[in-house]
Amino acid sequence: MKRRDFLRKSLLAATGSMILGGGIMKAVENLNTKNSSRMKIVVLTGSPRRNGNSAYLAEQFIKGAQEKGHEIYRFDCAFKQVEPCRACNRCGMDGPCVIKDDFNELRPHLIAADMVVFATPMYYFGISAQMKRVIDRFYAINGQIKGHYKKAAYLMTYADTAKKEAEPMLLHYRTLMEYLGWESVGEVVASGVWTAGSIRNTRYPEQAYQLGKSL
Ligand SMILES: Cc1cc2nc3c(=O)[nH]c(=O)nc-3n(C[C@H](O)[C@H](O)[C@H](O)COP(=O)(O)O)c2cc1C
Repeated sequence: MKRRDFLRKSLLAATGSMILGGGIMKAVENLNTKNSSRMKIVVLTGSPRRNGNSAYLAEQFIKGAQEKGHEIYRFDCAFKQVEPCRACNRCGMDGPCVIKDDFNELRPHLIAADMVVFATPMYYFGISAQMKRVIDRFYAINGQIKGHYKKAAYLMTYADTAKKEAEPMLLHYRTLMEYLGWESVGEVVASGVWTAGSIRNTRYPEQAYQLGKSL
């Protein structure tokens, strides 16, 4: 090869690898940025009304979060077979549960989650029994979720309009977050919604959407 050809080829090769190198670096950077900000989010819904108000808040939250590229795992507590905790203590609060049911589907998602969202109607000033049943089964994975940082959010609906009536549910949620060591990043407290779907004409779905979008 003539010296001139050699120099031209070397220069081309060097330029090529710089471009390629730069491209790869950029791709890796993008991948890293995406991976580090992409969260695994578990959304628990608690209403037996598929098209109810809290389900609609959950959907709006999911829409916003998905637009930001987050991964959603939704678990509709009222449509799953999850028995209440038997308090047998065989799990020792950190082990396999003796009950074999749909909680086993949720279990690995909860442990791996970066964020957990609770979307529930108010039933007699508390969260729905359908959701509470699932939360009580956290007992068997307590050791794997307590003190393991996660974000959390609360989406709650009720028919009355008195703010005071939402307090027991808010206190329960906040106390649970404090116990688990999770950080609550938002609460949507939707009052004055009774019939299924009545929430659609309120400002709350937008709040849930913006919460998802803000992540
Ligand atoms: C069993 C039951 C108990 C309820 N208890 C309350 C209550 O204590 N206070 C209240 O304001 N609304 C109460 N409601 C109304 C629901 O909280 C309200 O309709 C809510 O928007 C339902 O949400 P969903 O459509 O997601 O099921 C109750 C409804 C049911 C079915």
